[in-house]
Amino acid sequence: MAEDLFQQLASYETEALAALDAAQDESALSRWKSTYLGKASFVQQVFSRMGQAAKEDRPRLGQAANKARTTLEAAFESRSAAAAEKALADKLASERIDVTLPGRPVRKGRLHPSTQNVREILAVLAELGFEIFRSPEVETDINNFELLNIPAYHPARDMWDTFYTTDPGVLLRTHTSPGQIHAMKKFAPEPIRVALPGMCFRYEQVSARSEIQFNQIELLAVGRNISFADLKGTLEDFAHRMFGNNVRTRFRPSYFPFTEPSAEMDVECFLCGGKGCSMCKNSGWLEILGCGMVHPTVLRNGGYDPAIYSGYAAGMGPERIMILRHAIDDIRNFWNNDIRFLEQF
Ligand code: DAH
Repeated sequence: MAEDLFQQLASYETEALAALDAAQDESALSRWKSTYLGKASFVQQVFSRMGQAAKEDRPRLGQAANKARTTLEAAFESRSAAAAEKALADKLASERIDVTLPGRPVRKGRLHPSTQNVREILAVLAELGFEIFRSPEVETDINNFELLNIPAYHPARDMWDTFYTTDPGVLLRTHTSPGQIHAMKKFAPEPIRVALPGMCFRYEQVSARSEIQFNQIELLAVGRNISFADLKGTLEDFAHRMFGNNVRTRFRPSYFPFTEPSAEMDVECFLCGGKGCSMCKNSGWLEILGCGMVHPTVLRNGGYDPAIYSGYAAGMGPERIMILRHAIDDIRNFWNNDIRFLEQF
């Protein structure tokens, strides 16, 4: 009887080790454990039926059963560890990240070309001592026209095709000049040197050369003894800082209701250097701004006594200037939002 049991224990161990070898994954391993080491397993039964064995056989049988159980337990431990290691290795292999792949480029936003351009001009003006002054895009007829010496009946109103709102007397500003009134009313009677940037609106036929909205930058200097020489010197200096020291400039007489005398400033054509080309319509010159000495009526409307104070003003269109500098063929590109255009700046 005892010899039989020894025999059975030995073949049980062999069978269990073979089964363990075949167990591939965690669930097979746990099934194996309950079969070969669990309460109902053969080795446990040997222990529980030890009492039925002959007294002299018991120590040997106990030893043999213990040895079988220890062997199986050790084999199970090492097999489980190997299985866990393999599972981890498989997982690492299948979820592997290739850190050597180049990253996906982040598409960075940037300032609109027109904003860049306005800032560039303002930076040059800041060097000349001009402070930025903001004024509203929605304006009153009074500020946009009346106080700038353009009464309701005056034919000069035809120079600006205006978007009126449903509120009587309220409109979208047609130029930045009404900012002159805001600045003067704020600072009078102190001296002023301000740059007024911002969007303007005109109800006109849209074409390659004109848009219904565009930026302007207005300049205003008011104080004692400001003369046309100051206007000319400052604007020439501005043109040289903006377009290069050797660029020639010229002033042509013009008319604006809010300045007297009035002028327009041209710079030598960047494209042909003054020889004449299609950009400058063969004149060799490009018009970049309107300017003049602030009209006495406008000074008075702003709170300055024209007998004591004088001033000059100018107004330029940054998009116009940019078109000229970069030979952009259509002003509508600025607000079309075509990424192929925007990305070039
Ligand atoms: N406001 C004028 C326009 O939009 C431009 C202008 C001309 C502004 C002469 C000025 C100036 O300040 O002195 O057509």
